[in-house]
Amino acid sequence: MKTQFFSVKDPRDPVLQTVGAILRNGGLAAIPTETVYGLAANALCDDAVRGIFRAKGRPADNPLIVHISDLSQWDALVTEVPDAAKRLAAAYWPGPLTIILPKSGRVSDVVSGGLPTVAVRMPSHPIARTVIDAAGVPLAAPSANTSGRPSPTTAQHVKDDLDGKIDCIVDAGPCPIGVESTVVSLAGDKPRLLRPGGVTPEMLEAVLGEIDIDDAVFHRLADNETAASPGMKYKHYAPLARVVILKGSFAQFQQYVDAHKTPGTMALCFAGEEGDLSVPAIAFGEAGDDAAQAARIFAALRELDKRGATTVFARFPQTDGVGLAVFNRLVRAAAFQIIDLGGAP
Ligand code: TXA
Ligand code: MG
Repeated sequence: MKTQFFSVKDPRDPVLQTVGAILRNGGLAAIPTETVYGLAANALCDDAVRGIFRAKGRPADNPLIVHISDLSQWDALVTEVPDAAKRLAAAYWPGPLTIILPKSGRVSDVVSGGLPTVAVRMPSHPIARTVIDAAGVPLAAPSANTSGRPSPTTAQHVKDDLDGKIDCIVDAGPCPIGVESTVVSLAGDKPRLLRPGGVTPEMLEAVLGEIDIDDAVFHRLADNETAASPGMKYKHYAPLARVVILKGSFAQFQQYVDAHKTPGTMALCFAGEEGDLSVPAIAFGEAGDDAAQAARIFAALRELDKRGATTVFARFPQTDGVGLAVFNRLVRAAAFQIIDLGGAP
């Protein structure tokens, strides 16, 4: 299949109506959102949704997020919108937050991976919203990467993974947040954070009171554990290189890299540190700037692959604010390998 490429700056660009029609008619389109690029299909058409799984090589039991542009679309997708969900949506939609609730009969098992629940998000990106409006249907959309690869934050990343496998790619520049949405389940007795993202645990607790944080946010699940969020059980965000996170001061990091480098070793460091390392280095934002780190982390992981890194030593990001999401993604890229060098970060 020939993938069409549309560069769009203005949400009023008429080409977005064409993209809406492609989607309504069962096609696949990669679109920008404020978090990462998504691979969209008509959520009400099983054949279209199966196309997403095929193009990404995604396991069929990993459910998709359904994207809406208007609150009225939510009612049809779930059995009921409880009060807590209404308050969350009022506080953080449109935005980087996905809310899981029991699904209605309109959501097929293809979308929900066989689960009795559905994940819904209203994105804030003006181009994503225009495309959902133009399609006139809710859009199922996972991140637009090949399954297992780092999520795409530019249209070029999407092209690198999916060119020839989907109908079109809408390029609107880099995604401002850079890590995927926060996923919270309101389908159980107590609200549960399944994946950290742009909406922090503190922001959720400000609306919901105390929440549970799923074990999979911090730890590798044992083989016999079931993931509340199926995506968490797969090897994720993995670059081709072996990644090891080093926890400690920059001086300790420099020393460790010096002592352990081999040909092909590279560093994933904070901005400004590149010149003070004895191996090629790529930065993922300034030290202490969680938003900048989130915006850069996936592009940096892809860049290391492009440059042929075989081993990557990474700085330990902060874990507060959006930093928790950065840490969650990086620790998966590192297959949970962290070496504590003993000092302060
Ligand atoms: O920011 C985002 O969320 C991006 C953009 C495109 O909106 N989308 C995204 O989708 O990251 P995806 O498919 O890459 O990640 C969705 C995550 C997966 O870990 C999946 O297992 C989980 O959400 N998920 C989806 N539906 C679920 C459900 N009903 N119950 C539990 N987890 C669910
Ligand atoms: Mg994904």
